Amino acid sequence: MDHPVLHVRDLHVQFVTDTGTVNAVNGVNLQVKRGSTVGIVGESGSGKSTTMMAVMRLLSTGARIGGQVDFLGENLLSLSKKQMRKIRGHRISMIFQNPSTYLNPTKTIGKQMIEPLLYHHLASPAEARRRAVQLLGDIGISNPEKRFDNYPFEFSGGMLQRMMIGMALLSRPHLLIADEPTTALDVTVQAEILWLLKKLQQETGMAMVLVTHDLAVAAQVCDEIYVMYGGEMVEHLPSEMLLKSQAHPYLQGLIQSIPKLSGEKGRLPYIPGQPLGASANRPTGCIFADRCAYRFERCAERPPLLQLGERHEVACWKAGAEVSV
Ligand SMILES: Nc1ncnc2c1ncn2[C@@H]1O[C@H](COP(=O)(O)OP(=O)(O)OP(=O)(O)O)[C@@H](O)[C@H]1O
Ligand SMILES: [Mg+2]
Repeated sequence: MDHPVLHVRDLHVQFVTDTGTVNAVNGVNLQVKRGSTVGIVGESGSGKSTTMMAVMRLLSTGARIGGQVDFLGENLLSLSKKQMRKIRGHRISMIFQNPSTYLNPTKTIGKQMIEPLLYHHLASPAEARRRAVQLLGDIGISNPEKRFDNYPFEFSGGMLQRMMIGMALLSRPHLLIADEPTTALDVTVQAEILWLLKKLQQETGMAMVLVTHDLAVAAQVCDEIYVMYGGEMVEHLPSEMLLKSQAHPYLQGLIQSIPKLSGEKGRLPYIPGQPLGASANRPTGCIFADRCAYRFERCAERPPLLQLGERHEVACWKAGAEVSV
C-alpha cells in the first residue's frame, strides 16, 4: 500500500507562440512518495518549472498539456478550475522561483499569509493568526507577533523567503513543491532554510519536490533525484548515488562542472555544445547525442529509460549496456 502522493505520467507541455511551437516537456514520468523529498535537477531551460507549473495547473492558457497528474488518486488534469482551486494552497502548496513577484506590496505579511487558510475555511481569523505567528517564529523570524503586521518592504529578501515558506506550510499540505526556494539567498541562509524545511517535513510527513540547480544541495536534502534534459527525464537515481554513481553522460558532465572547493584552477569544466532548445525539432535518436563524447551507432535510436538498479534508471544505451555485460 505504498501509493505515491504524486504520480506524473507521460506529461507533455507545448507552448504555442508567434514564432512556433515550444516543446517544453516531453513525456515526463515521476513519482513522489509520502514523507519523501524528490529533487529535480537540470540546466536552465530543461523544463523543471514548466513541469511543476503544469502539475499545479498554473500555466498560461496558451499551454497545451497532455498526460496524467495523479495526486492522491485523482487526475489533476481532469479537474475543473474550481476543483483545482480547492486543492491549490491547501493540499498542495508551491514556493515559487521569484516569490516577491507573487506578493502584494500593499497588504501586510500576515494578511497575505493567512489568506489561503481563510479562503479554504481551514481556520477562523483568530486561529489563522495564531498559527501564522507561531510558524513565523518556527521558521526563524524573531518578534513574530509584531512582524505579522509588517508590509513586505519591511522584510529582507531572506525574511520574505521564510515568510513564503511559512505561508506554503500553513495549510499543512500533503505535498510541497519548492522551485529554487533559496537561490536568491546567501549560502549560509540557504542551508539553514533547507534544513528547516526538512525538519518541518519530518514533523508533518508531507511529501516535497525540490527543484534546484544545485547538485550538492540536492544530494544532501533529497531522497531521490530526477535529472531533466531538453524537457525529458534522462536519469532517476537515489540521492546517495548522485555525486558518485551517476550513469548518464549529461549528469556526469553536470557533476564535473561543480566548482571544486579545493579551487583547482586552469581547467574549466563544461559540457561542450548547446543545450537542446525547446523549440528545436526533436531528434529521433538520443536527445543528448549531439553533445555526448560516448556517442555510438545505437544512439541514432532513442534510448528508453533502462533499469540499472532497483531505484536507478537511465536513458542511455552506453550506461545501460555497461550494466548488462
Ligand atoms: N510561457 C512560455 N511560453 C513559451 N515558452 C516557454 C514558456 N515558459 C517556458 N517556456 C520555455 O520552456 C522551456 C522550459 O522552461 P522552464 O522555465 O521550465 O525551464 P527551467 O528548467 O525551470 O529553467 P530555470 O532553471 O532557468 O528555471 C524553456 O525553453 C522556456 O523558454
Ligand atoms: Mg525554473
